[in-house]
Amino acid sequence: MKSQIRIAVIGLGAVGRGVVTTLDRMQKENTSSCIISAVSDSRSACIMPDGIDIEAMLAQKEKTGICGDPALSSRDIINSAPYDILVEVSPTDVLSAEPATEYIRAALARGAHVVTSNKGPIALHYQELATLAKKHHVSLRYEATVAGAIPILHILEHDIIGNKINALYGILNGTCNYILTRMSEEGLTYPQALEEARKLGYAEADPQADVEGTDAAIKVVILANTIFQKSISLDDMSITGIEQVTDDALRLTAGCDTTIRLIGEIIPDKNIYRVSPQILPKTHPLVVDGSLNAITLKTDLAGDLTFIGKGAGSFETTSAIVSDIFYILQSG
Ligand SMILES: NC(=O)c1ccc[n+]([C@@H]2O[C@H](COP(=O)([O-])OP(=O)(O)OC[C@H]3O[C@@H](n4cnc5c(N)ncnc54)[C@H](OP(=O)(O)O)[C@@H]3O)[C@@H](O)[C@H]2O)c1
Repeated sequence: MKSQIRIAVIGLGAVGRGVVTTLDRMQKENTSSCIISAVSDSRSACIMPDGIDIEAMLAQKEKTGICGDPALSSRDIINSAPYDILVEVSPTDVLSAEPATEYIRAALARGAHVVTSNKGPIALHYQELATLAKKHHVSLRYEATVAGAIPILHILEHDIIGNKINALYGILNGTCNYILTRMSEEGLTYPQALEEARKLGYAEADPQADVEGTDAAIKVVILANTIFQKSISLDDMSITGIEQVTDDALRLTAGCDTTIRLIGEIIPDKNIYRVSPQILPKTHPLVVDGSLNAITLKTDLAGDLTFIGKGAGSFETTSAIVSDIFYILQSG
C-alpha cells in the first residue's frame, strides 16, 4: 500500500460533504493516510495534489456556493488531477446515467479505483464498467447504492461465501416505508403521509420514483446483476408502487395483525425480480418502522438472515463509501 492515498470527490452535496469531512477527521486523528486531492461541484473544482484544507473549502462552499475555481470542472479532475481513488457522488440520473458513467469510465481507464453511491451507472452499465475495472486491475465498489448503511453487498460477497442464496426480500426504499408506517400506525391518508415525508426531508421534491417503486426496482436490478450474475433491466421487472395502497386496506390488514410493506424480491432460480406491496404479519422481521431498510436472505446453509439499518442519509451513506475505500486499501 502507498504511504499516502489521494482521493478525488466528484459532488459535494449531502454525501460528498459527509465523505470529505469524515476522511479529513480520520487523517487528523491519524487513523487514515488518505488525503483529498481534488473536489468538484456542479460549477467549479478545486485541485491540490498535496491535500485540500477541507474546513476552508467547505466554508467557501457554504459562503459562495462553489468549492473552488469556476474555470475548472469535474472533467479537469477526472482527466488530469492526481488521485488513486475516485469517489463519484454526483446526482443520479437513471435514464442516461450521465455524466457519472463518463467520469467513472475515464477514471477506471486511468487506472484509478472508483467508489460510488450513484445508482445510474451501476444499474445501467455494470458489466461494461466491471470489465473495464478488471482490465486495468482496479476496483469498482458501490455499497452505498443499495440499502445505505447496511453492508449488504459486502455480506453477500464475503461473509456468507459457500451459501446458496435462494431468495432475497427487502425493504429498499425508506420513503415508501415511512409512508406505509404512518398510514398504518397513525391512520394518515396517503397524501397526508407523503406530505409529512416531504416535510421531514425523506421524500424528494419529486417523489415519483420512490412511490412508483422505481427506486426500489433499481436496487433490485443492481443486486441481481452484480451478485446473482444476471443481466436484467427495469424492463424485465414487475413493478407496483404504493400509490394504490389505501388507508382502508391498511385498516383491514391491521385488524388481522398484519400490515403492508413495499417489498423488493429476487428469486434467482425462478428469474423472479419484483417490487410490490405485500401483506406481512406485524411480527415479520421485515416489518420495520419509519424510514428504515431491511433485507432478508434465504440461504441453504445459514438459513434466514435479516439485516436492518438506515437506508439513506449523509452519514449512513458516508459509512458505506468510507468502508468501500478502506476495503480497497486493505485489499491492495
Ligand atoms: N443522500 C442520500 O442519502 C443518498 C443515499 C444513497 C445514494 N445517494 C446517491 O448519492 C449521490 C449524491 O447524493 P447527495 O444526496 O449528496 O446529492 P445532492 O445533495 O443533491 O448533491 C449533489 C452534488 O453533486 C454536485 N453536482 C451536480 N452535477 C455535478 C457534476 N456534473 N459534476 C460534479 N458535481 C456535480 C452538486 O453540485 P452543487 O453543490 O453545485 O449543486 C452537489 O454538490 C446521488 O447519486 C444519490 O442518488 C444518496
